[in-house]
Amino acid sequence: MDILEIIQKRRSIREYQERPIPENILTDLIEALRWAPSAGNLQSRYFYFVFDPDLRRKLAAAALDQEFMARAPLVIVACADRRIAGRYGRRGRELYMIQDVAAGVQNLLLVAHARGLGTVWVGAFEEERVGRLLKLPEHLRPVALVPVGYPGEEPEVPSRLSAGEIARMIR
Ligand SMILES: Cc1cc2nc3c(=O)[nH]c(=O)nc-3n(C[C@H](O)[C@H](O)[C@H](O)COP(=O)(O)O)c2cc1C
Repeated sequence: MDILEIIQKRRSIREYQERPIPENILTDLIEALRWAPSAGNLQSRYFYFVFDPDLRRKLAAAALDQEFMARAPLVIVACADRRIAGRYGRRGRELYMIQDVAAGVQNLLLVAHARGLGTVWVGAFEEERVGRLLKLPEHLRPVALVPVGYPGEEPEVPSRLSAGEIARMIR
């Protein structure tokens, strides 16, 4: 698939098959995270791959009871690393570390889709509760939760703003 087709055809998937994710595809997901751009190449991000069903249920509960998360075979918890980003001071902690994680997550969603997997970026969750569940060290801030699994649904294509509404050419 062409990269633009991968971008256009990726959808947020909230129903999953029980089929496990092969190890070689997990390796590809980690590569997608590793090679995302990063401010100053500090790579102020860290990812937990949660397969444990009990922990997945608890993460779903901490995400405003978005129960579909517990039905995915894998939930990735994407964290920003305050300690590393702090080398760029306040801008590092408030902006770059979040952007570092976001770049990794977007890579992840696209590679997952290209390998036939469904994902959804979940941002609505209680940070402190997720921190406690994973026993996160103080320097890690959870930024996104990403359930991953083979798709069990084919969602409608959502609307998007037109090109003219989101961009202006200045020549
Ligand atoms: C920062 C962010 C937070 C999001 N949080 C949630 C969420 O908590 N729950 C959810 O079901 N989807 C969430 N989404 C997914 C969006 O609803 C979805 O991307 C949007 O509706 C467009 O659909 P598409 O991904 O299929 O193109 C989030 C997406 C982003 C980028």
